[in-house]
Amino acid sequence: MNSALTIRGGRPLHGAVGIQGAKNSVLPILAATVMGGGEQIVRRCPRLSDVESTLRILRYLGCRVRREGEAVAVDPGPMDRCDVPDHLMREMRSSVVFLGAILARSGEACMSFPGGCELGPRPIDLHLSALRALGAEILEVGGNLICRGHRMVGREINLTFPSVGATENIMLAACGASGVTRITNAAHEPEIEDLQHFLQAMGARVDGAGSSTIVIEGGHALHAAEYAVLPDRIAAATYLAAGAAAGGAVTVEDVCPEHLSTVTSILAEAGCEIRAWRDRITLRRDAPLRAVRPVRTMPYPGFPTDAQSPLMAVAARAEGTTVFVENIFENRFRHIGELSRMGADIKVAGRVAVVCGVPRLYGARVCATDLRGGAALLVAALSAEGESRLTGLRHLDRGYETPERWLAALGADIRRETETDADDTDRRAAGYACD
Ligand code: EPZ
Repeated sequence: MNSALTIRGGRPLHGAVGIQGAKNSVLPILAATVMGGGEQIVRRCPRLSDVESTLRILRYLGCRVRREGEAVAVDPGPMDRCDVPDHLMREMRSSVVFLGAILARSGEACMSFPGGCELGPRPIDLHLSALRALGAEILEVGGNLICRGHRMVGREINLTFPSVGATENIMLAACGASGVTRITNAAHEPEIEDLQHFLQAMGARVDGAGSSTIVIEGGHALHAAEYAVLPDRIAAATYLAAGAAAGGAVTVEDVCPEHLSTVTSILAEAGCEIRAWRDRITLRRDAPLRAVRPVRTMPYPGFPTDAQSPLMAVAARAEGTTVFVENIFENRFRHIGELSRMGADIKVAGRVAVVCGVPRLYGARVCATDLRGGAALLVAALSAEGESRLTGLRHLDRGYETPERWLAALGADIRRETETDADDTDRRAAGYACD
């Protein structure tokens, strides 16, 4: 049964949010557990639908999986399959990271092409060319990838773009290759470093994550490990954006402030008072929001594409005009149509969105078009006058652990309810695949 959020905006937020483990860390780390010799314990594993999809794949492969509170235990010992069926691939396209892990474990892997998503075509050419360079044979037959990599050999691999997923897939496959693999122009994201730390905990020889060059010495037997995932910098950015939009004082706890410094500097420029300590950040916003210099999404350490839409919801209320340039994904402005229903004044030309701030937004019936687009609508609804109804929560639940619980604790008037027929009609009228 679908659910919807009802939000009555215009109330400042006050309090603290304990930030969940990072979705974009825990997904590749859970995939990597199949390579381990013994039970892996992954702590700070958030309760997200993307995590549940990943656990379903692990169980399908034959691994023993159990959740113990905020931890998940995976024993890959009984694993007896090396394919990921289409219905599980369709639940979550980033399951493609299992390709490198299963190849390293079994020497063969089969899965359907992950296909595109709400953000546009999501090619995996960089993944495939790198795995082929390691010696994997990959047949593309009828929408499926049939891979054999029993004798992969490490070598230098240059990425023409610092793809996060491709970097992760190469790190995992290289653990199963003989010799040394050197990735140049690798992605720098903190989630890549987190994956390296987990692999090292399993006994893998991986170094350099966080820089452009990562070196993996493959062929080592991997053992059981216990590891706590790093905090979710995008979830932290989203709650800070909520505080900026609604006003008040919001603290995000158990975070790494340096991982979202490009976001906090934009929020400070917008008129928020930001204070950061070792593992928490407090944002206070009492004065009117101001427009900021152009926001250009870039690979880490640049401004993160995943924070573009929540920050746009803040800019929608700022005095002045803010320009957003989306350099990472082809189609990451789908939330703008729904923000406009709330009174936002935003013009789009290709990868550029020009946000003319308005004095107020108005509550409206809106639906999430994708994960971070849904977060933007939530942020906007918290600052809007009147009541909003947000549907399409399956997108939001992929990446945010019970947002309504945390926001209510901050003083928001928000509740999750079962969807009505009217919600269903709205969603169809919106024409989005946001069921
Ligand atoms: C990861 O996606 C994240 N997902 C995304 O977060 C994040 O937005 C993205 O990295 C960028 O930081 C996970 O970690 C599960 P990419 P990924 O490969 O790996 C092109 C969220 O909201 N490309 O760095 O798919 C691609 O089309 C999600 O949490 C190729 O052309 O990102 C895109 O334009 C959304 N060929 C760009 O590179 C390839 O082979 C960035 O993709 C691979 C990618």
